[in-house]
Amino acid sequence: MASTRRHFLQGTALGAAALPGGLAQVTGKSPNDHIQFATIGIGGMGTGDTESAMRVPGSKLVGVCDIYQGRLDRAKEVYGSGLYTTRDYREILSRKDIDYVIISTPDHLHAPLSIAAMEAGKDVYVQKPMVQKWEDGLKVVEAARKTGRVIQVGSQRVSSVVYQKARQLLQSGAIGELNMVEAWWDRNSAIGAWQYSIPLDATPANIDWDRFIGGAPKREFDPIRLFRWRNYQDYGTGVAGDLFVHLFSGMHFVTGALGPNRVFASGGLRFWKDGRDVPDVLLGLYDYEKTPAHPAFNLALRVNFVNGGGETSGFKFTGSDGVMTIGNGVTLSRLPKEKNPGTSAGGFDRATQALILAENRKKYPPQKTDLENGEPLANERWLAPRGYSDQDEHHANFAAAVRAHKPVTEDAVFGLRAAGPALLSNLSYYSRQTMAWDPINMRVKA
Ligand SMILES: NC(=O)c1ccc[n+]([C@@H]2O[C@H](COP(=O)([O-])OP(=O)(O)OC[C@H]3O[C@@H](n4cnc5c(N)ncnc54)[C@H](O)[C@@H]3O)[C@@H](O)[C@H]2O)c1
Repeated sequence: MASTRRHFLQGTALGAAALPGGLAQVTGKSPNDHIQFATIGIGGMGTGDTESAMRVPGSKLVGVCDIYQGRLDRAKEVYGSGLYTTRDYREILSRKDIDYVIISTPDHLHAPLSIAAMEAGKDVYVQKPMVQKWEDGLKVVEAARKTGRVIQVGSQRVSSVVYQKARQLLQSGAIGELNMVEAWWDRNSAIGAWQYSIPLDATPANIDWDRFIGGAPKREFDPIRLFRWRNYQDYGTGVAGDLFVHLFSGMHFVTGALGPNRVFASGGLRFWKDGRDVPDVLLGLYDYEKTPAHPAFNLALRVNFVNGGGETSGFKFTGSDGVMTIGNGVTLSRLPKEKNPGTSAGGFDRATQALILAENRKKYPPQKTDLENGEPLANERWLAPRGYSDQDEHHANFAAAVRAHKPVTEDAVFGLRAAGPALLSNLSYYSRQTMAWDPINMRVKA
């Protein structure tokens, strides 16, 4: 089978200094001014976000906040002993020299911190899922509207050249009429299943426990619940909020879908029985009704943290004329269209068979196949440039929006439309009910 491989052209938002100068007047910043940011929650992802943000030309880190002293010590080790650090995020928000904050805390703090930051006049890059509870989503949307601040949610696929290519292919009809999307994310390791290391100095002296708890139910100090917060419904959002949400964001970007109308999820806790109260295997089914952007289609999602066969993740879009996958790049496979529908006469007597066959031959004289005609079968692959980072690209897009005070694609509404069905998957799993979602108004339907 013939196959072609193409690389995306460089020259996307990364490094693109050119921004609409007229818009810059809104914030009084010119595209070349540097912008200053602080990171709240500088654990695994907060560190990754900080690094990506610092790679955007003209962006400067001026402070970090975390409730565990070890994280602050580490930040000084990496970014210099002069770095401003605090355990209280309000001290970050009250500083006048900070244009935006990165919020990379556990999920239950995303909504309150994002709202507080926007009300304090900061633009916000908040990690996914935008909210821990779908009801809080509308409050974030409203805060963004009221304050006029730029808020971007951290599902980086939305800025990826790979997903842009997939969107373009789908819109150009490359796979005909879409009827189904499948996506999965399988793991098989302790770290992959969120069993992160607990530092030896995790004591109340080094950790502001009450600030971690925030609005979650009060509890005695327990470092496991802080360092492995994803394992508990009080702070995390299970595999649906952690991983399905990325799949929703990517898929909504590619299809232009706003969200499903019906959600059903099933699964269980099969292996990682370490005290967690969330499943390690989850399957979700979602109905997307026809909209001006896409035909009606079904979505099936899977996360399996106990896949002994290996760790994989990917996307498969099935249409009437082909299949598009997203994994390491985008792949398109299309079966050449058969003009001859063929016959199924084998069970009839010989004379009848002969008549049916003759009739078919007459109507569809034998032709050479595409391969015999020298035409390759349509099977193409596009890859991102070597070393490409959608995470860096997402931060570059955000920084450009902060400078020019212009909207971003993955704003609060987009963020809620991705988080909503992910969070409803949990509600469906625990209640064993099918959930109805209104993707336009972004709320659960009774
Ligand atoms: N976009 C992605 O690909 C991606 C990948 C990983 C994680 N994430 C998201 O990033 C967020 C952080 O995840 P993580 O893996 O870095 O977790 P983590 O536990 O490594 O980091 C969270 C940090 O927040 C700190 N924290 C807790 N309460 C705080 C408070 N009140 N104020 C300030 N800091 C506080 C913790 O001490 C910790 O250092 C999550 O929302 C997660 O879903 C996104």
